[in-house]
Amino acid sequence: MPHANSTDVTRVLVTGVRGKTGLPLAKLLVARRGVEVRGGSGDPSTVGVSGVRPTAFSWDEPAGWAAATDGVDAVYVVRPDRADAPDLVRALLAGTAPGTRVVLLSDSDGGHPGSDHPAGWAPSVERVVHGSGRPWTILRPGWFMQVFTDPRFYRHQIAEAGELPFPSGDAGVAWIDARDIAAVAERALIEDGHVGRTYRLSGPESLSLPRTAQLLSAAAGHPVIHRDVTVDEAVAGSEGFERDLSRLTFERVRAGGFAEVTDTVARVTGRAPRTLVDFLSADGAALRRASR
Ligand SMILES: NC(=O)c1ccc[n+]([C@@H]2O[C@H](COP(=O)([O-])OP(=O)(O)OC[C@H]3O[C@@H](n4cnc5c(N)ncnc54)[C@H](OP(=O)(O)O)[C@@H]3O)[C@@H](O)[C@H]2O)c1
Repeated sequence: MPHANSTDVTRVLVTGVRGKTGLPLAKLLVARRGVEVRGGSGDPSTVGVSGVRPTAFSWDEPAGWAAATDGVDAVYVVRPDRADAPDLVRALLAGTAPGTRVVLLSDSDGGHPGSDHPAGWAPSVERVVHGSGRPWTILRPGWFMQVFTDPRFYRHQIAEAGELPFPSGDAGVAWIDARDIAAVAERALIEDGHVGRTYRLSGPESLSLPRTAQLLSAAAGHPVIHRDVTVDEAVAGSEGFERDLSRLTFERVRAGGFAEVTDTVARVTGRAPRTLVDFLSADGAALRRASR
């Protein structure tokens, strides 16, 4: 275990602790003996995980970073999806003690320096971490299964309209449960053998979008149809950097860039990643129509 302090306690800052990976990660870490978890949030009063110390952390408030990282041995960095992410991550890490272990939540675009727009942004965040002088591990997951149940993504369209508007061409997606990403992050933050590694993370199988919609139908209790919309339609309503990033992501989906199945979750955690069927049997009730 990494120790920057003189006690036997390992202190870990989890940024984005209310998010899809941060929350399950914090729960895994507090269950470990000798690990103290700071849960970073823009609104720490809303952090309600037993055993986690709510900690003010916002990418918009650099003045608070020193207090959030003071004395920590490891930091889980949920990359902020904004154009200035390389500068923000560089500044955050520069303020940590030199031996602080860093685990960056990147995405599978991190490995595509040829991406021309937004100009090599994901790889550039990873390069900042490489150049930080801190021991690092990078996580490159594909699409999270939680996008189906998150109201900010597809939940309402699936539950109310009975459709999944997603531009895929004929390509598949190896959906991953964010809890499996958290399980890999937990090991990388605490255990030996992960420094300097870049982990491509996927779920156990690549599913076509029509097959995905079939599984969603079974979980929702009503038909869910996949609509293979254009990329323009998929990014409508967003603008600026967010639009550019979403466009790039969907173009990569259509090119098969999210279909790859890796064995990394099983290798790192010793447990096979969850299937979409497993995920939906636990969390799929959120997709039923409100009136039913
Ligand atoms: N969704 C996917 O399928 C997918 C796939 C691959 C990679 N990723 C990556 O996963 C990360 C999270 O994705 P998500 O959209 O699904 O979000 P999420 O995990 O549901 O949550 C986002 C988190 O960001 C925090 N946050 C928001 N604004 C913040 C700010 N100004 N400063 C600090 N923290 C802030 C929120 O915390 P508070 O509100 O508590 O501050 C929240 O915990 C992104 O880096 C994304 O690129 C996502």
